[in-house]
Amino acid sequence: MVSLPQPAAPTIVAARGDDLSPAVLDAALTTLGLPAATWVDDVPALTHATASLAPRIVIVPVPVGGSSAAFAAFAAELRRQSGVRAIGVASVKDGDTVLAAMRAGVHEFVVLPADDAALRDAIQRVLLLGGPAPSRGRIFTVYSAKGGLGGSTLSLSLAWTLAQRPDGARVALVDFTTTGAGVRVMLDLTPVYDLGSIASRTTALDREFIRSCMVSHTAGVEVLAAAEELDATEPLNAETAARVLEVLRQEFDFVVVDVDHHFADQTIAALDLADRILLVSQLDVSALRSAQRTLGIFTRLGYAREKVAVVVNRRTDRDRIALGDAEQVLGRKVDISVPNDYASCADAITFGRFVQEHAPQSPLVEGVADMAAMLTGEAVTAIRSAPAASSGGSRLARLFARR
Ligand SMILES: Nc1ncnc2c1ncn2[C@@H]1O[C@H](COP(=O)(O)OP(=O)(O)OP(=O)(O)O)[C@@H](O)[C@H]1O
Ligand SMILES: [Mg+2]
Repeated sequence: MVSLPQPAAPTIVAARGDDLSPAVLDAALTTLGLPAATWVDDVPALTHATASLAPRIVIVPVPVGGSSAAFAAFAAELRRQSGVRAIGVASVKDGDTVLAAMRAGVHEFVVLPADDAALRDAIQRVLLLGGPAPSRGRIFTVYSAKGGLGGSTLSLSLAWTLAQRPDGARVALVDFTTTGAGVRVMLDLTPVYDLGSIASRTTALDREFIRSCMVSHTAGVEVLAAAEELDATEPLNAETAARVLEVLRQEFDFVVVDVDHHFADQTIAALDLADRILLVSQLDVSALRSAQRTLGIFTRLGYAREKVAVVVNRRTDRDRIALGDAEQVLGRKVDISVPNDYASCADAITFGRFVQEHAPQSPLVEGVADMAAMLTGEAVTAIRSAPAASSGGSRLARLFARR
């Protein structure tokens, strides 16, 4: 039997769209010494071509606002074809569209009409990614609706725990906060570059540059610190924040993101892209009220219930509010409790160390280990429930009924 040579996979397949000019794309390809693009009529045809031809690069029009059944089907196929790189194009650059593109697994985003240089740069960058797409790391975003509940302490502790795994998981800790001590102070770091360098970058944000802005901690955590001079630097816009997280997700097994309490663009990007959100609260009325409101906002943002894990921080056996009452007012289960250990936490910050390194015997260590196990799905330990405090449940129920 004679085996026929297989046709070589085309380098680039593009879906026709109003603003993507074949002449401009051809000019970009010629400069790069690449063959002309193969064109298909629409996104369903591109999905078919992605499945049947496995081209090196596909160029896909991203629907404005990011949602269409055809685009969702394309995204599902792209996930199956780990060797195919995608460049998303759209005539707008609003946060929803860019985030939808990133979530779909698109590697580069180009605003149309684009000149051949912009297309060439994007093509060059996806070609540089080389090889089959690396596996996607998981993003855990730690959020609390009000200050001082322990969001930063838990972000750092979670990153530390994940970095100690025997499989040598690569862990990034990203500080998207603009208030509070910040990871720079809490870990006594003096990075040369930080998120301010990324925010003020005017040229393309390639992965080498993003990596060069990180600093290695001896505990095995790579840290991307917030800008030191917050006044001098704008927080990241949605597109840049999403780009940073997508790059890190390709480089690391776990990306832990500490975010502000308000819904800034970078906060929403980190929440949107998170595989799991840790909603940090405490067993007091004000913290629970904030958490209750936040769960409502998360629902309106379209987050699935399972995406969110509720963490009660600073548990003691003297809590005024019982866990069961808290669950009743939140309308869901508390996933993890982390014990209170103020001395260890406060001392660790004073010495610029991870709590686990400063106070290995702290009960917080085990609490955060349970949290990490829950997130990675390796072992779900039952919440150690402290004895229920006399609850005053009915008053509490009335209080929280006022949404
Ligand atoms: N489990 C815990 N036990 C005891 N103290 C804790 C615990 N977690 C955090 N703390 C303490 O609570 C205070 C606030 O913690 P942290 O800075 O982590 O909170 P935050 O939510 O990041 O606050 P901010 O709004 O300032 O960013 C700190 O003094 C910290 O040491
Ligand atoms: Mg903080």
